[in-house]
Amino acid sequence: MEQFKRFKDEITRFLMMYKFALDSLETKIEILKEEFNFLHDYNPIEHTKSRLKSPESMLNKIHRKRCEVSFPSIKQNIKDIAGLRITCSFVSDIYRIYDMLLNQSDLKIVETKDYIKNPKPNGYQSLHLIVEVPVYMSDRQEQVYVEVQIRTIAMDFWASLEHKIFYKYNEAVPPRLLQELKEAADSAAALDQQMERLHNEVAEIKENHENSEIAKRIIINDKEFQIPAALLEMIDIGQGSK
Ligand code: GTP
Ligand code: MG
Repeated sequence: MEQFKRFKDEITRFLMMYKFALDSLETKIEILKEEFNFLHDYNPIEHTKSRLKSPESMLNKIHRKRCEVSFPSIKQNIKDIAGLRITCSFVSDIYRIYDMLLNQSDLKIVETKDYIKNPKPNGYQSLHLIVEVPVYMSDRQEQVYVEVQIRTIAMDFWASLEHKIFYKYNEAVPPRLLQELKEAADSAAALDQQMERLHNEVAEIKENHENSEIAKRIIINDKEFQIPAALLEMIDIGQGSK
């Protein structure tokens, strides 16, 4: 019984390490999101969703990959125990977020699979990364792998439907449905392109109409502040005395 409790504690500690890695990555994403919102005046991230693999599916995968069943082996060989999915508004946002993650010196991107530039034959699109995240605990520091999937709303819509169909047909999807799914993926990609074009056009118009009313406000923490007229006057005086 004592032995069982120790083992249970060990699994819990093992999974907690992944939870902390996810928490830390989610905080980083939240900061990028807020800063981006400030710089570009729109939200690049629609939502994020994290998940931890169950011990059962971890074990299934370790058997499938014929790896040794031990914590160090699981940690080294299964890189998607922690998963973070980031859903973006536009395709360009996906690569912006990717670049921002690349620039974080405490993160290491150990693998990149670009299923947007190279979609899967079934039509699946997303940018997949394996990121190594440092986790600081009371008595040790660990580097933990997290699988990050970055996609647009349209890609996400398609992937969740495809996933449902795949499971409903127990992985043997009729060819007609496969064909339709592929067509739907192409339509989703076309929609993404169209939305991006529209977004760029609107951004341009907005830039041209950037009037003093917009220029006079600051948004922090979803709260809007007007810059007091007295402060603006100070700038005018400063500029005038140049
Ligand atoms: P795994 O060992 O299965 O994780 O293989 P991998 O690491 O080579 O897989 P990959 O990076 O291509 O995909 C990992 C994850 O992406 C999957 O667990 C799914 O969440 C998602 N994914 C990949 N391909 C598809 C697909 O065709 N359809 C859907 N709906 N999701 C997919
Ligand atoms: Mg994987």
